[in-house]
Amino acid sequence: MPTTKKVHIITFGCQMNEADSEGIAAAFRRRGYSLTDDLKKADAVVVNTCTVRQRAEDKAISQIGRLRVWKEKHADGKIFVVGCAAQKLGGKNLKGRFPFVDEVVGAKAIESFEDALVAQLGPTPESETAHQNLFRSPQTAYVTIMRGCSLKCSYCIVPAVRGPAVFLSPAAVLKDAADKIAAGAKEIVLLGQTVNSYKHGQTTFAELLKEVLALPGLRRLRFMSPHPLYFDEGFTRLLAAEPRLARYIHLPVQSGSDRILGLMRRGYTRRAYLDLIGRLRAAAPGLAVSTDFIVGYPGETEQDFEDTLALVREGRFSLAYCFKYSPRSDKPEMAATIGEAEMEARLEKLLAAVKENSRLVLNERIGKIEEVLFETQTYGRASGNFAVRVKAGGAPGSTAKVLVTGAAKNTLNGKLI
Ligand code: SAH
Ligand code: SF4
Ligand code: F3S
Repeated sequence: MPTTKKVHIITFGCQMNEADSEGIAAAFRRRGYSLTDDLKKADAVVVNTCTVRQRAEDKAISQIGRLRVWKEKHADGKIFVVGCAAQKLGGKNLKGRFPFVDEVVGAKAIESFEDALVAQLGPTPESETAHQNLFRSPQTAYVTIMRGCSLKCSYCIVPAVRGPAVFLSPAAVLKDAADKIAAGAKEIVLLGQTVNSYKHGQTTFAELLKEVLALPGLRRLRFMSPHPLYFDEGFTRLLAAEPRLARYIHLPVQSGSDRILGLMRRGYTRRAYLDLIGRLRAAAPGLAVSTDFIVGYPGETEQDFEDTLALVREGRFSLAYCFKYSPRSDKPEMAATIGEAEMEARLEKLLAAVKENSRLVLNERIGKIEEVLFETQTYGRASGNFAVRVKAGGAPGSTAKVLVTGAAKNTLNGKLI
């Protein structure tokens, strides 16, 4: 029997890249490849890159550099560099610096990754393989509903490397979701950079959610990342009416200062953001909200930063991802202005505030009932996205109501009721 060939896929960046990597893995599986975590055993390597901050790009570049040794030992091995940093830097540049790279496919061309495979490995055999989730749990599948982004947040490179927003048709979304449910998914995460701006013909985001929720076998629906500008009343009504829509929204705010929000071109004020999460929480009592912050945006004063710090408490965020501003353009007005030491000090302060606040939010859950989707007999995720441990839980893939009896280090403890 011929031994099957193996592919090793390294993924940097956000869920969009993770979803693309799953598509790439499926393309390899159709050719009889299996996945391996062990680079040494691989016949092909894919590096799916990110460039949202300079550090992400640097990590991708040093990863590619390390493959030089692998290629020396695997003369027939193929190296594919794909994704957002590949798009930014370009094939010529990357192949010039790393001549051992076989193919470069930028994020804008990722749907034609198959062409790169054909170029390197010959024609694609006719075969179908079931979808396999590579990230999160086996019960949770990503479904991309839009590509790119048409907003122009001043700090952000995503629109440049992923192109303007393009929405997939409802039919394509439903087919993808149904296939993944058939392959075992109980929970779907709809993906897009401004996922709630979805519009295809007459179909709005809320209507698309309804259609996905109508698929038999789906227990829970999540989405990432929405933008504060695009939640409409149709969505709020659906959130109130449909308990399978997760009681959790990740809604990046970026800053608590109106002046900085204006400079960032985010299109909302601190007040408008707080009013919005107030409305969402009124529709779905107990809704957990998490966010993203950027510290040290050009011109951020001590007062602007204090406004961000205060927003951590006011927003009652269950989690917040905090990033040091990283210049993504050469324009002088986009250069960082507060210096590395001050940047680091603000980040530390913000992280401490977030940690303290998350502990409070977690403790508020004690005594409450959470709906948990089990990943193992004893571990699962609440609808509010909290990790939950139960001594005797349910079967993997099932949901059950759990009374929260305690909280420790980012995790709730509870018992089935
Ligand atoms: N589309 C999403 C965010 C995508 S990028 C949204 O608009 O909310 C993910 C996060 O990376 C952003 O929310 C932001 O906090 C951070 N980010 C983006 N560009 C950055 C930069 N130049 N420097 C630091 N953080 C950045
Ligand atoms: Fe970037 Fe998100 Fe703004 Fe789009 S909405 S430009 S992806 S931060
Ligand atoms: Fe990075 Fe591209 Fe996502 S730049 S954050 S992988 S869209």
